Amino acid sequence: MERMSRTRLAVPLVLCVLAAAAASQAPRAKDLPPRPQAEVDGLAMTPPMGWYPWNTFGEAPQNERLIAEIADALVASGLKGAGYVYLGPDEGVCFSRGADGKLTANKSRYPSGLRGLGDVIHAKGLKYALYTDAGTMTCSGGMPGTKGHEFEDMKAFADWRADYIKIDWCNSRGQDIVQTYAELGKAQRAAGRPVVHSLCSWGEGYPWVWAGAVGHMWRTTADICAPGEADWARALRVAFANEKLAEFAGPGHWNDPDMMVVGMPGLTEAQNRSLFSLWCQMAAPLMAGNDLRATDRSTIDILTNLEAVAVDQDPLGVQGRVVWNDANVSLWAGKPLFDGSQAVLVFNQGRSRASRRITWEELGLDVRDAFYVRDIWKHTTSGPEAGGTTVSVAPNDVAFLRLSKKNEFPIPPILTVETFLLRLRSGSARPELLTGKVTVRNMGRSELPPWRVDPSSLPAWLRVEVTGGGKAQTFVNKVLTAGLKRGAYHALVRADNVEPVSGKPMSALYYDVDLEVARDVKR
Ligand code: GLA
Repeated sequence: MERMSRTRLAVPLVLCVLAAAAASQAPRAKDLPPRPQAEVDGLAMTPPMGWYPWNTFGEAPQNERLIAEIADALVASGLKGAGYVYLGPDEGVCFSRGADGKLTANKSRYPSGLRGLGDVIHAKGLKYALYTDAGTMTCSGGMPGTKGHEFEDMKAFADWRADYIKIDWCNSRGQDIVQTYAELGKAQRAAGRPVVHSLCSWGEGYPWVWAGAVGHMWRTTADICAPGEADWARALRVAFANEKLAEFAGPGHWNDPDMMVVGMPGLTEAQNRSLFSLWCQMAAPLMAGNDLRATDRSTIDILTNLEAVAVDQDPLGVQGRVVWNDANVSLWAGKPLFDGSQAVLVFNQGRSRASRRITWEELGLDVRDAFYVRDIWKHTTSGPEAGGTTVSVAPNDVAFLRLSKKNEFPIPPILTVETFLLRLRSGSARPELLTGKVTVRNMGRSELPPWRVDPSSLPAWLRVEVTGGGKAQTFVNKVLTAGLKRGAYHALVRADNVEPVSGKPMSALYYDVDLEVARDVKR
């Protein structure tokens, strides 16, 4: 389809190798908030995981039904249980701008409205992602951009209860990129609902230098594919360009090599496994882009391999890098994990099987140490091995390994929550005590200390107690209605925790509590 803006296609991948040059183009600090955004909201401390429609569906066939079906598929396939939670329409022609300047949902595609869609997603224990553009129009020209409406649009997204906002950079001629995204970040903070802010300028404006101050992740390259079909060579160019920016990634601020093409037409099983491993080794956001309603078992097994996801979701948040690349075979390392182990990837792009000896020395490890070698795809452990290990890798495939001095390979916390939306209702004029529960389970191996909810962050009508411990904890939400007036009340509850082995803060957990009081209540 002919697109409204071609600027992003002109963004050369070589931009990514110009990271050093970026320092001289560093934005004016006056435009940027003084603290990284993730330090304020605690969001995306590990790379966001979820599903986004663009790679498969482009803009046209998106609608409420598709998103609801994908939400069901996320749960049924086990992807939600492996940590994939963010989902929503990309350029799904979901809203337009009225004569009053306000955004309105496209009711023919989204009959429940965009708030309604958010409720459906939250009720399933998933998080709500929306898309817009920082210019005058989105890339297809099918939706209005936020230019000149930053504050009212971010308020609309907050009212619809978005948890994640991807902001594209089409049709932005003449706009200062840092000022524009900084203004959008300000508008999000003013709207009062913390969101994962995903910048999408395809590397334009060197976002890796400055964007952590306003958001949580930024695209580093042009699109990974045209909607509908994966392109292996293009996906690898994206991966190798993204690799060069490793030093800029860390907890709360991630390089984004685009939504994944794993499981899309055009790729073999080995290629799917390789791309997924590369994304995990690079601590990239894991946004699946395949049609989850019609996915084969092998793709599901790849996307839900918790041993691989563990590398991506490691709380230290280090992006792995290429140690050597002999044209057909590359060694990716430099990824220490929270338990003292290391993730190592050997990728074979050649046409024939490749055997390589990988030495502890070239991995930067102490050559006197012996390591157990865990094969992340075969789920087998060998060793302890001294000096190095030998791998044999099929064409287009990987050896994805984890090395540890102990014969233990713990999975870091991977959380599932049965709902992010509690609805409480009081019908009586006499005081009532209402209770609603939200349970959080940790699919990883380590147990967590109790979640903390700051009581001063809650409205006077709500109290939250955390019960249970270890692998499952419940937030008990208590409302005493005494003295409340008839009306609708809302609270966004924030809970915080630390990962006990690394001591790093975990991504803050947010959920909504809605209270409906049908009559004025006596004291
Ligand atoms: C740009 C982005 C894509 C997608 C489309 C929507 O190309 O890079 O990821 O959001 O716009 O038009």
